Amino acid sequence: MLFRLSVCLLWAAVAGLVACASENEEQLFPPPATNACGEDTITYAGTVAPLFQRQCLSCHGEQFPSGDVRLDTYEHVRQYVDNGRLWPSIDYTGPYPMPPVGQLPACDRVRIKAWIDRGAPND
Ligand code: HEC
Repeated sequence: MLFRLSVCLLWAAVAGLVACASENEEQLFPPPATNACGEDTITYAGTVAPLFQRQCLSCHGEQFPSGDVRLDTYEHVRQYVDNGRLWPSIDYTGPYPMPPVGQLPACDRVRIKAWIDRGAPND
């Protein structure tokens, strides 16, 4: 019985040590910034506008814009960045998840977020 108990304790100690070791490793070697989606090099004209053209303008173009929301020019898009309604829609956390048929692929969302976080420049 005592033997079993000490084996148990030994296991707990080893498990604890291993957990500690991997935590330290993460602290010492933080994962490198990935840029896995090419988010470091996106621009409005090169990335965001064509993406919106493909995914959003069928409903948010110049003619008959859904919900009166136009996303066909920088100024119009910028308006929805500034009023805080663009990202919650794309992130599916807002009242109107967009596009309504299904969330954009993860990398597209990472790219749009990176652009917004850079101040949504007209580049
Ligand atoms: C199938 C049509 C359709 C597509 C595609 C679509 N939307 Fe929408 N969107 C709507 C409709 C309809 C509304 C208005 C919802 C309402 O007011 O009931 C709306 C509203 C919005 C709003 C306003 C949300 C708010 O909080 O007021 C934003 C921002 C938006 N869409 C962004 C996008 C973006 C970005 C895309 C592409 C990634 C997109 N939409 C694609 C139909 C669409």
